[in-house]
Amino acid sequence: MKPRLKIDILTIFPEVVQGPLSESIIGRAVSGGVVDLKAHDLRDWCRDRHRKVDDEPYGGGPGMVMKPEPFFAAVRELRRDATRVVLMTPQGQRLQQSMVRDYAGNCSHLIILCGHYEGIDHRVVEALVDDEISIGDYVLTNGAIAAAVFVDAVVRLIPGVLGDERSPEEESFAEGEGLLEAPCYTRPVQFEGMEVPEILLSGHHERIDEWQRKRSVERTLQNRPDLLPGDDGE
Ligand code: ADE
Repeated sequence: MKPRLKIDILTIFPEVVQGPLSESIIGRAVSGGVVDLKAHDLRDWCRDRHRKVDDEPYGGGPGMVMKPEPFFAAVRELRRDATRVVLMTPQGQRLQQSMVRDYAGNCSHLIILCGHYEGIDHRVVEALVDDEISIGDYVLTNGAIAAAVFVDAVVRLIPGVLGDERSPEEESFAEGEGLLEAPCYTRPVQFEGMEVPEILLSGHHERIDEWQRKRSVERTLQNRPDLLPGDDGE
């Protein structure tokens, strides 16, 4: 079977990406051949004896900047016709489920570049990168962690990866209204003085749907009012 999606990750910490992506659902998608996932050591494309990937910033300032040469050599070697090159960076566009759906549905090959240190020589961004992506408004030590998050979100939406095909339609940020999911419960009915809401035990599907919808709106209002219609996110 031909993999639905090929993903090449370029990082100086391939084990950081490999760890979380070799377990559970994503691990099975990889071992089952649905996804062809490789985390490459960027240093393999260094030409110098010391395999140096960073250097001091022009113009001064703290920290080190990642050199362009290894990124250019790696992308030139790995790129094919329909490749999308993504850079994980806190300066990128903030990742949304709608973007995740687009990658899962419309991409056949992703090359993901992971930064480290102060940043990446901007010529990499100008010449090689299609999309700059941030996984949130905070700074990580290492873009490989962000790449693992991004890949997990994309791969789980590839048909056949999740056991229950309906789940992506019913979860938070699903297409349509985009509200947060309602709270959920399992056995036991009573636990440390707290009870499962009676309605969920009733077997009355219409009333359960209604209850879930109400809780969903409440939860969104409390935790993410920016998701509700009419809120401009300010
Ligand atoms: N690298 C460091 N911080 C990051 C973030 N928030 N998103 C993506 N890549 C990053």
